[in-house]
Amino acid sequence: MMSTRNRPLATPPRGSGLKPVMGRNGGLPVVGDTLTILRDPQAYLQDAYTEDGPVAWRRALGQVVVALSGPDAWGVVHENSDKAFSHRLGWDRTMGRFFNGSVILMDFEDHLYQRRIMQAAFGRPSLVQYLDSMNGTIDHALAGWPDQGELKANPAFKSLSLDIATEAFLGEEPGEAADRMNAAFYDVLLALGAVVRFPLPGSRLHLPGTQWSRGIAGRQILKHEIETLIPKKRAGNGEDLLSVLCRATSEDGESFSDKEIVNHMIFMMFAAHDTSMTTMTMMTYHLAKHPEWQERCRAESLALGPHASYDEIQSLSTLDLVMKESLRITPPVRQMFRATVKDTEVLGHFIPAGTTVLVAPHLNHHLPEYWTEPETFDPDRFSEERREDKGHRYLYVPFGSHAHKCIGMYFAGMEIKATMHQMLRSFEWSVPDDYELQWAATVLPTTKDGLPITVCRRDRAEQPS
Ligand code: HEM
Repeated sequence: MMSTRNRPLATPPRGSGLKPVMGRNGGLPVVGDTLTILRDPQAYLQDAYTEDGPVAWRRALGQVVVALSGPDAWGVVHENSDKAFSHRLGWDRTMGRFFNGSVILMDFEDHLYQRRIMQAAFGRPSLVQYLDSMNGTIDHALAGWPDQGELKANPAFKSLSLDIATEAFLGEEPGEAADRMNAAFYDVLLALGAVVRFPLPGSRLHLPGTQWSRGIAGRQILKHEIETLIPKKRAGNGEDLLSVLCRATSEDGESFSDKEIVNHMIFMMFAAHDTSMTTMTMMTYHLAKHPEWQERCRAESLALGPHASYDEIQSLSTLDLVMKESLRITPPVRQMFRATVKDTEVLGHFIPAGTTVLVAPHLNHHLPEYWTEPETFDPDRFSEERREDKGHRYLYVPFGSHAHKCIGMYFAGMEIKATMHQMLRSFEWSVPDDYELQWAATVLPTTKDGLPITVCRRDRAEQPS
């Protein structure tokens, strides 16, 4: 590990009264803390926070990155009152190649315009329709799980959420086109974690056979497949997300072009996939480790039918506590980048224009000054009597906040709870007492061992023959 002494990032303007951001070069020569920031952003942020406080710089991703930690710094970035923080410039380096033209890579007026149209696809009537198609997909997936024995939960949820994406998002039945899209989409996901990700020096060609080049080819396939579907979706009255986006209009009558629809759909599939899958994996893990919570959740689910309606899903209050606690302990979006478009200040520290900054929910979610035993699984901390999440406005932020707050938050809650509801009704599951889930060192959260659980089907007698 190379580490130099602390020094200021930039000198604050004379008379401004601002302090410089302090920090240091750490990690390996040349790449600095790049591997840490990509593979373990929690450790990266915790180190900066412990050593240098809530505003600190480190070197990673070939540049200086200012780590902004804790709820106060979070508020400054997300309120963005002087419009100093750009989403587009912040995310471009890690996601621009695949998700250009999507809302996450837009700022200010452009963003507001696109998001207003998109909102139409996430209203309650649309959610109710998506749930209908989702319930069938979940049924089908759970019917294929073993009656008794070991199941790797993480890959099982991965495949289920891809199926949900194909059916609820695209309205396509499983088949060759859906398989092609799933494979292409998967290549894009892998490419996001690629270390070799740039064109060959002096050329626009990418190294063939790499994760990166497969991801770029995958994006082309997705673009082509979605473009092919658009005329049919525009003409029809389908209830899948793509059809709804094709017909979506804002209150002012604005609608999306074909190109905008393609860009939004590709990002949406990404935004929905790993996040929901990680949450289901974590919930499954915690419920296996804490059978008393599994029983409490199951009791509520058994009081409803197998296909819970939208309102019934909202009534699963124990499952809701478990979901919140799982999202607190392991927020699936582990790091969020922004970049400053002008000189600005955070908590009295001067940050010059053109600086990449990093915020992450994890640190807020584990601060011992706000949470009782933050590393302990304790869903009741979200109960009305305790509401520990209310300790600070920006303490609990798994879905982000403000202008770019997750547009799929209710969709996600519905998908996750509909899946867990059916799983609780159909199976009991456990892990050995000494089992601890470990995350692999990748950009996207992945389990090292797939989370092997022992399942026992409990609904065989109720199953239609
Ligand atoms: C548990 C599941 C999910 C979590 C934890 C999650 C988390 C987040 C977070 C933290 C952001 C803000 C990123 C930032 O500020 O840089 C975000 C944005 C977004 N999410 Fe989600 N998300 C989830 C599921 C979904 C689903 C299911 C969809 C779509 C169906 C979705 C669509 C989006 C979109 C489109 C944005 C960008 C919004 C904008 O820029 O205006 N997400 N999500």
